[in-house]
Amino acid sequence: MPVEERLNIVTCTAPVNIAVIKYWGKRDEELILPINSSLSVTLHQDQLKTTTTVATSRSFQEDRIWLNGKEEDITHPRLQSCLREIRRLARKRRNDGDPGLNSNSLSHRVHICSVNNFPTAAGLASSAAGFACLVYTLAQAFGVEGELSGIARQGSGSACRSIYGGFVQWIMGKEDDGKDSVAQQVEPENYWPELRILVLVASAERKPVGSTSGMQTSVQTSCLLKHRAESVVLDRMVQMIDAVKRKDFTAFAELTMKDSNQFHATCLDTYPPIFYLNHVSRQVINLVHRYNRHYGETRVAYTFDAGPNAVIFTLQQHVPEFVKVVQHFFPPDTNAGQFIKGLPVDCASLSEELEQAIGLEPMPKGISYMISTKAGPGPCIVEDSSQHLLGPDGLPKITV
Ligand code: DP6
Repeated sequence: MPVEERLNIVTCTAPVNIAVIKYWGKRDEELILPINSSLSVTLHQDQLKTTTTVATSRSFQEDRIWLNGKEEDITHPRLQSCLREIRRLARKRRNDGDPGLNSNSLSHRVHICSVNNFPTAAGLASSAAGFACLVYTLAQAFGVEGELSGIARQGSGSACRSIYGGFVQWIMGKEDDGKDSVAQQVEPENYWPELRILVLVASAERKPVGSTSGMQTSVQTSCLLKHRAESVVLDRMVQMIDAVKRKDFTAFAELTMKDSNQFHATCLDTYPPIFYLNHVSRQVINLVHRYNRHYGETRVAYTFDAGPNAVIFTLQQHVPEFVKVVQHFFPPDTNAGQFIKGLPVDCASLSEELEQAIGLEPMPKGISYMISTKAGPGPCIVEDSSQHLLGPDGLPKITV
């Protein structure tokens, strides 16, 4: 029988998320248990997503993985944790006598192929979408149902939040085995439709210190991080959930900015210090505060992860003018192609009064491009079989 007839194949997509209450620091490195809870907004997959195909076949000799067209090491411990957990749950279902389970594939090896629809080098959180997609797709392939965020968490902490759409909290949990350290949806993606998100890609450089090792050093050396985990985040989580539920943009925006600033303060308080923000990031921070001050209200908020890219939150009605402001103070490279990607943005004019009120020196080419997006859904199954990333021979259709 030809290989293709024995191939069990499935393709899924998963989203990127951006934390507005940040996760930084683990209490258990192996299980990836955090020292504080966190909350994020899942970004829409029309703009940013990972696609993963998983195939199982009796003819496969070994487990293999290709990421963005290149074969990678399948023995990576975090990949192994996810694979092991999915297979364990599948075995449990078989032993419990679940009739719906495709138990054949249990003894089969897997081929995994994954691509992002955005450049990894842009420093956007690709590991969150990547591990969420891996776990979700493996679960489909092995017929595993139920709670998956606890498994995605073992791939990358922030990945557990990408298992759901909309507004998502990762509850830190208390147990040593991590069973209660899971993500939960706070509100679905269409709950606050006016909310808009702009990703300002400040640099195509790779981040200097990865989050995993960065947060390790912070846990070891920063007393500010300890204070944050013990005395700050608990209240902020309550306030943030309340702000989302009430769609209170001012409260949401202020908490988002304060939490981003405190996260970067803990990076500075780490010894030796970690610098994720650069001069472009600081210019964006100034610009946002001056813009808000001009209007006497908080219309725009920023947040930054472990890199210099800004993620901006605002309401739909302010998008055209704020984008115009960004284009004015960060004049784009005219040879570099489209500056605004994603959801279309209406044209607006910039008043002289606003330009003067902001009063910053323009920084040409400081921002390479921006992605205009909104909150979006969690992982999805791709029904169209022509979209599989693995061919009938179980090998990637495209390699680099
Ligand atoms: C700054 O989830 O990438 O983006 O668990 O070690 O894989 P690991 O770290 P990761 O850290 C993300 C840190 C952050 C904040 C956040 O997303 O909450």
